[in-house]
Amino acid sequence: MAIIPLEEINNVRMHANIVEVIGSYIPLMHRGKNYFCVCPFHEDHSPSMSVSSEKQIYKCFSCGAAGNVITFIQNYENVSFIEAVQILAKRYGITLSNTISPSVNDKNARYYEMMDYAEKFFQNNLKTDLGKQARDYLKERGLDKQAISEFGIGLTLSDRKMLYRLLKGKKFTEKEMDDVALVNTHSDPYDYFVNRIMFPLHNPNGNIVGFSGRIFYESEAAKYVNTRETVIFKKGQILFNYHRAKPFIRNEKRVILVEGYMDAIRLYINGVKNVLAIMGTSLTKEQIALLRKLNVKIILCLDNDEAGQKAIYDIGQSLKKDNFEIEVIKLSGAKDPDEYVIKNGIEAFKKNLKETIKYLDFSLNYLKQNKNLHETVDLAKYINDVLADIASEKDEILIDITLKKLATDYNLEYDMLKDKLKQLETNENVKTEVSVDKQTNVKERPKNNKYIIACKKMLFYMMNEAKYVRIYQNNLVFLDNLNYREIAKAIIYYYETNKDINLADFLTFASTNERFYPIVLDIINECNEEEIDEDVFMDYLNSIQKGNKQKTIKELKESLKDELDKSKKIEIAMKIAELKKGSV
Ligand code: GTP
Ligand code: MN
Repeated sequence: MAIIPLEEINNVRMHANIVEVIGSYIPLMHRGKNYFCVCPFHEDHSPSMSVSSEKQIYKCFSCGAAGNVITFIQNYENVSFIEAVQILAKRYGITLSNTISPSVNDKNARYYEMMDYAEKFFQNNLKTDLGKQARDYLKERGLDKQAISEFGIGLTLSDRKMLYRLLKGKKFTEKEMDDVALVNTHSDPYDYFVNRIMFPLHNPNGNIVGFSGRIFYESEAAKYVNTRETVIFKKGQILFNYHRAKPFIRNEKRVILVEGYMDAIRLYINGVKNVLAIMGTSLTKEQIALLRKLNVKIILCLDNDEAGQKAIYDIGQSLKKDNFEIEVIKLSGAKDPDEYVIKNGIEAFKKNLKETIKYLDFSLNYLKQNKNLHETVDLAKYINDVLADIASEKDEILIDITLKKLATDYNLEYDMLKDKLKQLETNENVKTEVSVDKQTNVKERPKNNKYIIACKKMLFYMMNEAKYVRIYQNNLVFLDNLNYREIAKAIIYYYETNKDINLADFLTFASTNERFYPIVLDIINECNEEEIDEDVFMDYLNSIQKGNKQKTIKELKESLKDELDKSKKIEIAMKIAELKKGSV
């Protein structure tokens, strides 16, 4: 990673006024001390994000997104931390020193350069005499010169040394070639891909990180072969066409998800450019996070076979958990969007795009499959499945309509359905609460919730003002929670290295630590409206000390039960009494 000295980062952060920067992307409304806007990090229409000019941070009351001007750029523009700093520096005319560390970035730059050479080389192969059969195949599939060049499509030939020789000539080492899986160099070096039509695969920033090679003649071999997982290629972290489609997706405020490369290419070259391919049939956590950043409605347009329909159902279930708005397109008479457009033209597809159905409607239908709803057992299962599905739905009106429809269609009591749904909803809530607890380390968490709140508030004060870090250092209290202990350590570390602390700059530092950033965000969400007051801070310190004491007393009482030695028993009892009196 490129390293910019912290003072320079803080300088950029200080010059880049958060109100000005966010205001240049989203309209802001001034209300009281703060500014408000519609949060760009979740689907919303009401102004749930507040931007504080005083603290130079933003915070969304609805989805919990929070951070400073740098993390805003990072998330909004979907760029790395360093890139975000560079964007802001450029905007405010600040020159950054060019101290770039030799590690990851440079190494990846060489990898990307190698991938670019490979792409050009493959593209050239396709233009040679030996590329005729592949060219005919592509022509047959309706990909013209422009489409081929736009998607960087190329070809590998049967000579297994060609790319190896080329890269060697460019002074790449065998290790480097092997690192990115272009050449297998374990014994006698040979190119990884042969005799395939090559599709470059890009990471979200548009660097080529891998290839997918398609067979184009009769063969028993797999239809597609992908680059294996390498330092730069993580299949689960990319979505095909992301870097090209991103601006169009933002513009259209929705994204069409298809299964295959060819589906995405077909729609894109026909002008429906807000399309991504999932390259298989399930979505990973990282891919969902990429979609989250786009912050748009999702339209699922998968293959027309059983696997495709199951994938719509499954993907919908996982996206729903993340509160995406999901719709489904049903294409009839073709196995996939590619074939549909070939057969019926792009206008017919666009018409379908206007007639999407809500995911809930899709799943109500899907759940009926393979069930005989005249049989009591099947019907009961169906109703239960549907209720489970509705339980996580947010749209009250949609819920009510669906319940009424179920009641009439299957001759059931509306009130009974409603009660049953209520039960399920309570279970849902319990479930989410449990999983939230997990993140903040349940085991270490004392039962007393006041304790946790006191820890959070105390840490919040410390992130805001150096004075409170100093008070804490003079009154060190034990924090009975590993996460909070770590944050306290980080705050002290930050304070000691920088001789000062403020929330916005501490956030820069925290945001580069994946493990504790969510905890810092949680603290900010809990405390941001707090007026800072020294007496209140001392109260928090006292509550924490009291909580610790109570816990010790409890533990001593436990040990008293198990202790057999009389004199030791007395010793413990005395300790408890002393603690209760407050003399220890
Ligand atoms: P065409 O047959 O060329 O139209 O391919 P497609 O892009 O429409 O793919 P299809 O719908 O058959 O499959 C969807 C996606 O799954 C493809 O784009 C690939 O990402 C992936 N895929 C399909 N077949 C294979 C395979 O044999 N191996 C691997 N690794 N991936 C495959
Ligand atoms: Mn296809």
